[in-house]
Formats: sequence, C-alpha cells, structure tokens
Amino acid sequence: MATHNLLLLPGDGIGPEVMAEVKRVIDFFNKKGPDKFTTEEALVGGCCYDAHGVAVTDETVAKAKAADAVIFGAVGGPKWDKVPYDARPEAGLLRLRKDLALFANIRPAIVYPALAESSSLKREVVEGLDIIILRELTGGVYFGEPKTINDLGNGQKRAIDTQVYDTYEIERIGRVAFELARKRRNKVTSMEKRNVMKSGVLWNEVMTALHEREYKDVQLEHMLADAGGMQLVRWPKQFDVIVTDNLFGDLLSDIAATLTGSLGMLPSASLGEVDAKTKKRRALYEPVHGSAPDIAGKGVANPIAMIASFGMALRYSFNLGKQADMIDQAIAATLAKGLRTADIKSQGCKVVSTSEMGSAILAELEALAA
Ligand code: IPM
Ligand code: MG
Repeated sequence: MATHNLLLLPGDGIGPEVMAEVKRVIDFFNKKGPDKFTTEEALVGGCCYDAHGVAVTDETVAKAKAADAVIFGAVGGPKWDKVPYDARPEAGLLRLRKDLALFANIRPAIVYPALAESSSLKREVVEGLDIIILRELTGGVYFGEPKTINDLGNGQKRAIDTQVYDTYEIERIGRVAFELARKRRNKVTSMEKRNVMKSGVLWNEVMTALHEREYKDVQLEHMLADAGGMQLVRWPKQFDVIVTDNLFGDLLSDIAATLTGSLGMLPSASLGEVDAKTKKRRALYEPVHGSAPDIAGKGVANPIAMIASFGMALRYSFNLGKQADMIDQAIAATLAKGLRTADIKSQGCKVVSTSEMGSAILAELEALAA
C-alpha cells in the first residue's frame, strides 16, 4: 500500500474553512484505502506574513518541494493591502509556483447538470460543458524582468512589466496541451496576441511547429486571446483544451469559471516536469477562487472547488483515477439532491453551510464505497 505525503497550506480568508472539508475527505480515504495519506500543515500568505514577516518561509518551500503534493487553499485579503510588495500574500503563492517549477496549470471548467441554471449564461450554452484551460504558470509577464517602477525625476514615474517567453517554455506547455487533448476530444486551441506582441508571434510559431512535428493527429486551432474570450462566453462548447500564457490564462480561467455557475466550483492542478529518474512530478492543487475575505469566517464558503482540487491530486499525482471519479460523482450527486452553498443558490434548493456541504459529499462518498 502506497503512502503519500501531503503538505496542506490553508492560507487566508476562506482557505482554512474549505481546507477543513478536504481534511475530512482525506480521513475518508485513509479509512477506505487503497492508499494512505500523511499530512503536515504550514502557513502561507497573510497569516505567514503576520507570523514571520514573509508570505512563505524557506522552510515551507523546502517542505513543499519534498512533499508528494501540496494542497493549497487561498491567500490574501484587505488586511495586508499595505504590506511591502515582495511580502504581499500573493507573493507566497507565486514563489511556490516558481520554485517548484509548476509550469502547467490545468483548470477544468465542468458544468454539473444540476448547476446549468446557476450560470449567468443560457442553459443551452453551458449545459454539458467540459473544457480545460491550460495556463502557462511560471513565465510571461508574471515573472519577466525588468519589473519595476522607476522615478523619472520630473514628477513622473514609469512602471515596467516584461513579457518574456523562450521556445522551451512554449514547447513544454504545448506538449501538455496535446497530450491532454489526446485523452479527450483531441482538439487544442492556442490563444495569444500575435497581432500586437512578439511573444504572441513566437508562441504561435512554436505551437504550429510542435504540432507539425509531433502531434499531427490532434486538431490545432489558433485564436487571438481577445476573440477567444468572446468565444468563451458566446459558445464555449466549441473548445476542448485551450492553451495560453500566464496572464491570458489568468483572465480566461476566471471567465471559464463563471460559466460553471460560480468561482467556487473550479479546481486546479499545477504540475512540474516528470522527473526522469523517480517518474514523479511536483504538484500543487488549489481552487481557482480566492480567499473571499467578505465571507470568511462565516461558514458559508463553497468547499466544492477545494474538494475537487484534492480529487485532481488523486488523479494527476497518485494515479487514483477511480477515487477521483468517486469525488466527482459525490459532488454531482450532492448537487442533484438540491443542496447549495450561498454562491450557487437557486430557487427550490436548500442553502447549506460549508460543513453541511462537506458532510453531504462525504455521505455520498460513503454510499459510493459501500
Ligand atoms: C489565480 C490568482 C493568482 C494569479 C493570484 C492570487 C496571484 O488570480 O491563481 O488565478 O494571478 O495567478
Ligand atoms: Mg486568477
């Protein structure tokens, strides 16, 4: 029986509340098997800044590198609006992504049948939706240098962010996109802005060449990222896997999330390269939603994205596809019974708390295991 070591980083705001529900799911699998999970917890984000003056400590980064997977809640909140830029809560998350080289961020947008009415779009537009936004996560304007605000000495300042992509960075995320598509509906849509950005020109070139060389069996389509955003809300079912850079991926995945009814529904997996020797890859799993400070501490947050993120860990880190499917089925069954957290409430449904939603999903898991 395999044992996997998890580092839990609940973070700020609703992070600890939704993580509490994941811990119950971990306990469930520890009882039922087939694998065992050990967990350790650490601070990240604003709470870490309060305790240590940084958004993540070196010790925690080392633990994250050594763990079989990191399960991450959320960071940030108005309390830390004034902390120095390098110590802001988000810096902890960005450092983890960079130091663990988690270049591939998989953000699936799936509309559960019971939630087709919760979307701001018409039922027929979103019903049955199942797409993946694959976001490049360690390059682009998030990390490019220089990144500064310079004083020009004449009462003006100049802010500089730099968008940088090397061939290898585009190629490796492209590979992940084509491999994912092969196991799905075999279509990749690559999004960039080659009409205004050099990085877009290279992105397009490298994707085209990689496709030609290694993935001719997959359908490749190119779209300008602004048109892609429009198409995502016009007819999202035309897509299968969308591959795009760090910044466009950030924007487009929020759009994709809202198609599903609520930001509270979208899980994500951030993966590194597979190690040639150990065959393992570093990984961090986090809900796409943030720390939602406005509802933190009230017990009303939706734990589904966090629980589904743990489901992605089972699938992508531990090869437990059947157990991951169980989690998805338990979530779907709970929603089908009409239970809703406040963010996805609709007429005729029962509004429940974070822990009630967790309990209901656990009850479905128990039933599926019986
Ligand atoms: C996300 C978030 C982060 C990002 C923030 C919290 C730094 O919006 O994961 O989408 O911009 O990448
Ligand atoms: Mg975002």
